Amino acid sequence: MAQMSGAEIYQQLCTSCHGVRGKGDGPMAPLLQIEVPDLTRLAQGPAGEFPAEQVRRTIDGRSERPAHGLPYMPIWGLRFYDPEKPDDAEARARGDSIVERLIGYLQSIQED
Ligand code: HEC
Repeated sequence: MAQMSGAEIYQQLCTSCHGVRGKGDGPMAPLLQIEVPDLTRLAQGPAGEFPAEQVRRTIDGRSERPAHGLPYMPIWGLRFYDPEKPDDAEARARGDSIVERLIGYLQSIQED
């Protein structure tokens, strides 16, 4: 994933549930017990702007569970960050970069 753009990472990992255009209509969506959110409308939440920090925590996922619980979202942080090297700055920077690219992509598909 090192060289992929946010759009490419999204296409590879996220469309099965969130759909090619982020509308929450991926092929897996009907199989889940809950509705898959429309990722093009994140900027229309209560904050009135794109909630980058919340999106970051949701995608990372490692600190969300079990306290808040996003039961159907895979915990991508376990894949993006090397769990064997929690203190390795380079490994962390690589994970951060993947998450940042995804956030940038999601920000770019917001509708008004
Ligand atoms: C297995 C299905 C599935 C996959 C794959 C998936 N998601 Fe999700 N996602 C969900 C569901 C369902 C929710 C609603 C919260 C929950 O899990 O209960 C969600 C919630 C979210 C939210 C929070 C939306 C909000 O309204 O705050 C974001 C952001 C998000 N996903 C991004 C992603 C990204 C980026 C990827 C790919 C790296 C991804 N998702 C892959 C199912 C999925």
